[in-house]
Parts: sequence; C-alpha cells; structure tokens
Amino acid sequence: MRLRLYRHHKILRALLLFVFALTCVIVAGHVEPVLGNSDGVTSIFRPLSQPAQEIKETSILVLAICGAIFFVVAGLLVYAIIRFRHRAGDELSEPPQVYGSNQIELAWTVLPILIVLVLILVTSRTIADIQNRKPPPGAVQATIVGHQWWWEIRYPELGIVTANELHVPASTGDHRQPTFLKLQSADVAHSFWVPQLAGKTDLIPNRENLMWIEPTRAGVYPGNCAEYCGTQHARMLIRVVVQSPEEFERWAREQQQSASTDASATTGRTVFFSNSCVNCHTIRGTSAQGKFGPDLTHLMSRETLASGAALNTTDNLRLWVRDPQKIKPGCLMPNMQLADQEVNQIVAYLQTLK
Ligand code: CUA
Repeated sequence: MRLRLYRHHKILRALLLFVFALTCVIVAGHVEPVLGNSDGVTSIFRPLSQPAQEIKETSILVLAICGAIFFVVAGLLVYAIIRFRHRAGDELSEPPQVYGSNQIELAWTVLPILIVLVLILVTSRTIADIQNRKPPPGAVQATIVGHQWWWEIRYPELGIVTANELHVPASTGDHRQPTFLKLQSADVAHSFWVPQLAGKTDLIPNRENLMWIEPTRAGVYPGNCAEYCGTQHARMLIRVVVQSPEEFERWAREQQQSASTDASATTGRTVFFSNSCVNCHTIRGTSAQGKFGPDLTHLMSRETLASGAALNTTDNLRLWVRDPQKIKPGCLMPNMQLADQEVNQIVAYLQTLK
C-alpha cells in the first residue's frame, strides 16, 4: 500500500511539474514582449516579417492542439488516479475485466489520424507558401556564406561585400521590398536564424539554400547560428539592420566606395600591409585581397566585431588585434605577437575605414 501511494505521488508530482513548466513557457512568451523593447528581442512570438508571421500562426495552432490533447490525457490520468486509488479492503476484490471495445478502439484510432492529418495539411501549406515565393522585381538579393565563425555577406547586384551585419530595406504596403538570400557554407554546416524575421535555414557545404525575409519595421534584429559548428558556435551572432528604403540606399552607396585613403594613418597602413593581415582580409582599392577573413573595407560602419562577440569600440578593436584568441578562443585569426605600438598603429588605420 505504501509503495502504491508513493507511486501515485510520483506521477502526480511529475504531472504538476509538467504543468508548471508549460505555464512558464506560455507566460514567458507573453511577459517578455511587455518588458522588452521592440529591438533586440529574439522571440518567435513577436514576428515582424512575413515568413515568421506565418510560422507563428502555425506554431500556435500546433501548440493549441497539443495542449488540448495534453489536458485531456492528463485530466483522465488524474481522474483515474484519484477515482480508482487503493482503498482499505481492496486486497481481495478484482476490478471488472474489460476485453476490448470496438467503439473506444475506433475512436482512439480515427481521432489521432484526423488530428495528424490536419497538422500535416496546415504545415505543408505554410511550407509551400514560404518556399514557393518568387522574388518580385526590385527585390534585394544577397548571398550569405557561413564561415567558422562569422558570416560573409555579398550583394552581387550592388557590388557590396560586408560581414556579420545584413542591411535590408523595410518593406512598406505600397512598396513591397523583400530580400532574397542565397545561403552557402565555406566549411561546415551552419544555420541562419533571426527569430523575428524567418525560420531557420541551414548553410550546407556544396549546396545552396534559399530563404527570404520581408521585415516591415526599421530596427536591428539579432539572430544567431542555429547549428552547432565548432567551439565558437555560440559567438556566431548575426544582426539584421532594417532601414527605410532611403537609408538603405544611402548605406549601399557608401559601401560601394573603395576604402578611404586617409593620410592621417599612414604609419598604421604600412604596418598593416607589412604583416600577414593582407593574406586573409580584403580592403577594396588596396593590395589587400585575402579571402579567409571578413572584408574590412568599411569596418567602422559595423557596430560589432568578431561576428557580434564584441562591440566595435576602440578598446575592443585593440584587444582583438592584439590577441583575437582572448575574445574568441579557437578562431582562425592568430595572435600576431604585435608590439603595443604596432597594435595602436594598426587600430588607428582600421579606424579610418569608415
Ligand atoms: Cu555556425 Cu553554429
């Protein structure tokens, strides 16, 4: 008897824990939007772009159906535990033995089939809807290449190469302007995920995946690599900067310029070009044409360094140039053993790359 009571307690406790966890998840989804501001939130429950909106609607339907099933099953289980609990004097009697019931068996076969069918149809429609979208004329096209551990971003039509911060124009009612992305990988599998804009899409070596986003509100939308890709996977962050069409055009024009040749940092420039920096980085308009690392032509137009691992401040830039392994252990940029003076000179040069 003790043992059975103990078992019932265990089941009840597990159920209560589950309900508690479920409540936490639901409450978290609702409280966070109240506390958080509009920017910097990575919640699939606050979509601001069409694919994310459609995905949210499907998720809520699936959650509702699964939630209803959970409450029915858990309710029946709790009812059975209480109603048929062990009572004094039960030892000798046996409960009525039931051998099969066509109605009940039919019900628990047909109902789940119908539920699964509904889920399949709704999900396929959402997937087809998102995947079959063709780029309208005027859509922005960008290619994103995943690297360990940063994002190369190219706009082939605009002649722009940048990294880690994807700029796109906001789409407005009378001027729809989605951005279509081609996703590739230079090394291992990565996954592009900006929760408020679209679902995850993998970047796979020797393959090209497609996705699109159509944000409607200006702002900075954070995201991250969603496929484990090595030690610095967690610091492979991405920012999508959504701008008004005019601001986006201005940004694009600035990015199309070659690197500035500010005379104030000639020494730093010489130090930079006499070190191996040039083997890995491109600075357009100079002899630095390396392809392994991010394009530095307009480094200072980016808010972050090292794929979002640090803000692009003078101190962080210095720290990064001196020893990247301190900020991102394992990253491909080595400690170049530069003297303090050289670090300062290189940083002074990099800061002219506006
Ligand atoms: Cu790239 Cu994880």
